[in-house]
Amino acid sequence: MGFFSSHSEYFLGVDFGMQSIKAVELKVIKGKPHLFNYGFVNVTNAKEVPDAYDKDHAQRLEDALSQMLSQMKPQAKTATVAIPSFNGLVTIVDFPRMNEKDIANAIQFESRKYIPASLDEVNVSWEILKEDEKEAKKPTMRVLLVAAPKSEVKYYDNLFKGVNISIDSLELESFSIVRSVIGNTQGRFVLVDFGAKTTNIVLIEDGVVCVNRSVDIGGYDITSAMMQSLNITRERAIALKESDENFFTGVTKIGFPSLNYVANEIKRVLSAQKSDKIEALVLCGGASKLVGLPEYFKQLTGLNVTTGNPLSHILYDEQNSGNMKALSGEFAVALGLALRGVEEIKK
Ligand SMILES: Nc1ncnc2c1ncn2[C@@H]1O[C@H](COP(=O)(O)OP(=O)(O)OP(=O)(O)O)[C@@H](O)[C@H]1O
Ligand SMILES: [Mg+2]
Repeated sequence: MGFFSSHSEYFLGVDFGMQSIKAVELKVIKGKPHLFNYGFVNVTNAKEVPDAYDKDHAQRLEDALSQMLSQMKPQAKTATVAIPSFNGLVTIVDFPRMNEKDIANAIQFESRKYIPASLDEVNVSWEILKEDEKEAKKPTMRVLLVAAPKSEVKYYDNLFKGVNISIDSLELESFSIVRSVIGNTQGRFVLVDFGAKTTNIVLIEDGVVCVNRSVDIGGYDITSAMMQSLNITRERAIALKESDENFFTGVTKIGFPSLNYVANEIKRVLSAQKSDKIEALVLCGGASKLVGLPEYFKQLTGLNVTTGNPLSHILYDEQNSGNMKALSGEFAVALGLALRGVEEIKK
């Protein structure tokens, strides 16, 4: 540990999903991140979240967070926290070439054109994207702008004050998943995070997020389709959904219009970006565990489809890590958040 570093060797990432809160604590040993601890708590007693935010949601989050942390007893005193992607904005802007100092001022001015809110209401961060030789000769450079509402930042700040942990940094969840699932792998990838209520579609180029689109479709809609087709209760549909049965083929075949919608959105994102070669469509999130989903998406999009492994950048002892391997799809965001802290100390 560096003499000037105020960080400890423990890094905590906390992901607030619609269905559950997930946390991961990593410990850096000899410069390498090891899984130290993790926590999971349902935000609601309902088997599946029916509505996005009702009036009791904030209180439930606070209760669930303190319950989870009191079980986890994390060593870290600070946390990296995810903001849901639908509350943020990611956009790539062409700027006239200028040095880093001038760009900060220019962004204050220019971002008004791209961010549909007053700058008093949003936090804006930016990053100059890497260029190849051809791009470096152009009079403009590409800058990634990320904006999040200040009200959101304040909301999470207050939530953590109640549990005696301070927030180290906040980021959009798409950036966290990219860190744990893709890392710096070169090439273009589409990452699809299927949650309980939302699905994030993220286009990544050489490890950098280029497009981030979220749609209001998730595991909840898959259950609903099964309830309707099979005329069964939600409880029964959830049990079937999580079983080994493949509902995309054979006698038990069901239509999933919401999944077709997601596939069309992916195609739209790709055609708008004129993206030539895509290495793979990478799936993660709890709802992506539906048996047969990779094959179905391959059929719909024509892309090579794989399932992401968010544990690939950390070390862990399989014997003593409980259910982590099976749950890693759900923990992709939390793992990426904890890894952000680890990356910061390496800088
Ligand atoms: N084995 C499984 N097969 C199919 N679906 C599953 C399986 N296990 C969990 N799910 C579904 O995954 C969803 C929860 O995923 P996840 O934990 O990634 O969501 P979340 O992060 O809480 O929600 P969101 O990202 O929408 O805020 C639920 O809809 C659940 O039914
Ligand atoms: Mg999620």
